[in-house]
Amino acid sequence: MSASTSFEKRTRKNLQHKTRYIAFVAASIDGRISLSGQHPPDWTSAEDWHFFEKSLSHVDAVVVGRHTYQAVAERLRKRNTFVLSSRPKKICRRGTVTFVNPATVYLAPLFAPYKTVAVLGGGMVYRFMLENGLLDELFVTIEPLVFGRGKEMFVGGTRTTRLHLHTIRQLNKNGTVLLHYHTINQNT
Ligand SMILES: NC(=O)c1ccc[n+]([C@@H]2O[C@H](COP(=O)([O-])OP(=O)(O)OC[C@H]3O[C@@H](n4cnc5c(N)ncnc54)[C@H](OP(=O)(O)O)[C@@H]3O)[C@@H](O)[C@H]2O)c1
Repeated sequence: MSASTSFEKRTRKNLQHKTRYIAFVAASIDGRISLSGQHPPDWTSAEDWHFFEKSLSHVDAVVVGRHTYQAVAERLRKRNTFVLSSRPKKICRRGTVTFVNPATVYLAPLFAPYKTVAVLGGGMVYRFMLENGLLDELFVTIEPLVFGRGKEMFVGGTRTTRLHLHTIRQLNKNGTVLLHYHTINQNT
């Protein structure tokens, strides 16, 4: 009997788990994720930042849009990072960073080696992942602010989607609230 190649072993291991996609969003009460295109946002609380940093230490890879990547590239370069963009004609890898156009590449196999993928936005990416069944959990931190304008959480709007509220936690005395949702698997 021939010995398994490392590729076969990796593939078999990958089939043993399903990648979990977890989105992290900081939003105003009116569901805006950015007031003025600032990178990164300066209106989020220290408690949210702490939660976010701690959560990221548990994920295997992250996915971001090109704008968000450009803003925080230095911090993401050490991670397995997937950058969505319409520009690359084919998958382009630079160290741990992979640039990919989801119109030409099916994303799920790319993420398959990873147990947990953090979806870090911005609004185009949250929308794409939700609409393409690549979202299992959603952490939304609501800061006690109304912007009245700014970037939407799901840029351009999306279809109505029902989620299950898993937990709700107040993060500080100012009224920052962390909501944890699970998406509902349409196939079950
Ligand atoms: N509050 C939060 O939690 C949070 C989190 C992240 C970001 N933000 C804020 O959100 C703003 C950025 O959001 P954004 O929506 O403008 O930018 P983004 O999603 O970071 O980047 C948009 C770009 O990513 C690429 N892209 C995204 N989805 C794609 C898809 N499905 N197919 C192909 N390309 C895709 C496109 O790049 P090409 O132009 O190269 O095609 C697009 O122009 C910033 O102000 C940032 O501070 C807030």
